[in-house]
Amino acid sequence: MFRINALVWIIQVPGRHETSSRRDREYEALPGVRETLEAIKSGAPVILVSGRAGTGKSRLIDYISRFGHGRQAVVAPTGVAALGLGATTVHSTFRIPIGGVCDARRPLPQLDAESLALLRGMSRLVIDEISMLRADHLDVVDARLRAARGSPLPFGGVQVIMVGDFLQLPPVTTESDRQRLSLLGYETPWAFSARVLARSAPRSVNLPRVLRQSDPAFISALSSIRDGSAGSLVIDALNDLCHGSHRDGVEPLVIVARRKDAERRNQAALERLIASPARPHHACIRASFAGTLAEERTGSALPVAPALHVAVGSRVMATRNDPAGRFANGSLGTVLDLEEETAGVTVLFDGKGDPCFVEPVEWTERRLTWDGAHERVVSRIVGTAKGLPLAPGHAITAHKAQGLTLDDVRLDLGGRVFEAGQLYVALSRARGIAGLSFASPLQPHDVLVDNAALAACRRDFARNWPWLHETAAPPGAAVVAAPQADSVSDCLFA
Ligand SMILES: Nc1ncnc2c1ncn2[C@@H]1O[C@H](COP(=O)(O)OP(=O)(O)OP(=O)(O)O)[C@@H](O)[C@H]1O
Ligand SMILES: [Mg+2]
Repeated sequence: MFRINALVWIIQVPGRHETSSRRDREYEALPGVRETLEAIKSGAPVILVSGRAGTGKSRLIDYISRFGHGRQAVVAPTGVAALGLGATTVHSTFRIPIGGVCDARRPLPQLDAESLALLRGMSRLVIDEISMLRADHLDVVDARLRAARGSPLPFGGVQVIMVGDFLQLPPVTTESDRQRLSLLGYETPWAFSARVLARSAPRSVNLPRVLRQSDPAFISALSSIRDGSAGSLVIDALNDLCHGSHRDGVEPLVIVARRKDAERRNQAALERLIASPARPHHACIRASFAGTLAEERTGSALPVAPALHVAVGSRVMATRNDPAGRFANGSLGTVLDLEEETAGVTVLFDGKGDPCFVEPVEWTERRLTWDGAHERVVSRIVGTAKGLPLAPGHAITAHKAQGLTLDDVRLDLGGRVFEAGQLYVALSRARGIAGLSFASPLQPHDVLVDNAALAACRRDFARNWPWLHETAAPPGAAVVAAPQADSVSDCLFA
């Protein structure tokens, strides 16, 4: 499992920030999208955009990101989630102390002048994969913004848009974290238990339509696994359709439960290939690191592995979008050739007619800062990594797969499901039943749902915080005033 605190880098995706900022009226009229944009425009202080896997939540963030007018910061709880968005992590932006549980009511380590200027300058904050952000960390975000802006309003008056699905993977917590959270009065580790949300109930928007899959029966099976209502009929039906070998002619990405399982499978596949009678050419292609990425980060906290050992015939997975559109984050392919001099490889991505030469690319670790002269959020490069945007493509964990869309996927969870939402995340990566297979049959006990998350989703957040629609605030809750003028004037499309 990757660690929530560890990753503080972002990927530079030249194409992404150059995307057209022309408005797409048809897209804006879609259910859920329309309500989100209206909520943003009306200056709702806190908005929660949720929806099942594949309902276009990340796509919506991408759209919103184009219209930030320089005063919007997009963050995600983990480096993996930030990678898909061209964003920074919550931890690096808000200087959240690494390790342990934070008590946001106590003094926090001081912010440097740059971070202070950033927090004072931003007027909108978008947080993706909110299900992976712990309640105490959301309270630190609130405390930091209030202190930096000298405002008693929740989040210091910054408009906050939280996006995610609480029935996918939860925040990473140890047993001692959970005990400490409970001692601090948190009902659950989920972000919806943060104190700040009791003072400022989110306006809740749901994206209703699943767009990743099109088969209504599959969508309905996935939904029942998501909310735990799937009985043995659903599990049996999925096993009937998917247990056994994968469809012919394609090698799927295998999703496993634990990181060690993924590493073992990738290593075994490479060794098998190298030992095969064809004795294919193989090489270890090294990445290089500078600045903070050389000095402060190791292991899974790096955006690219220090060495990628591949052979002709190896399966690989792209770890970022290609600006030229030849492959996307999550695309799978087979290595056709290796060039040690240029450290490049030729890959035939699945479903593409022509091979594609993949060269090393650069990742940058950035720090968001506030440019007072031009009154905008800017980012400064503090570290770089250069390497191939590829990872071994035989197996990954469900945790790493969260957010991906895959044409061919094989589940090998083998009775090792240990986390609420894990099976749902793994299954819902597939576009359809035809490209999905199971190495071992699913068991009814693989369907794990967190009761608190389910209750929160069932009640819907508007009802969970009923005072949202009442004129009187609940006892002890601060009345949320209208947002500050600058955040209203900075609304989307203002
Ligand atoms: N408006 C849309 N029209 C057509 N396809 C869309 C639309 N929005 C998203 N998609 C497609 O649906 C798939 C899932 O979208 P996206 O990754 O944004 O979903 P998500 O809700 O963030 O999923 P997850 O919860 O798994 O992170 C992607 O392949 C995306 O291109
Ligand atoms: Mg997403």
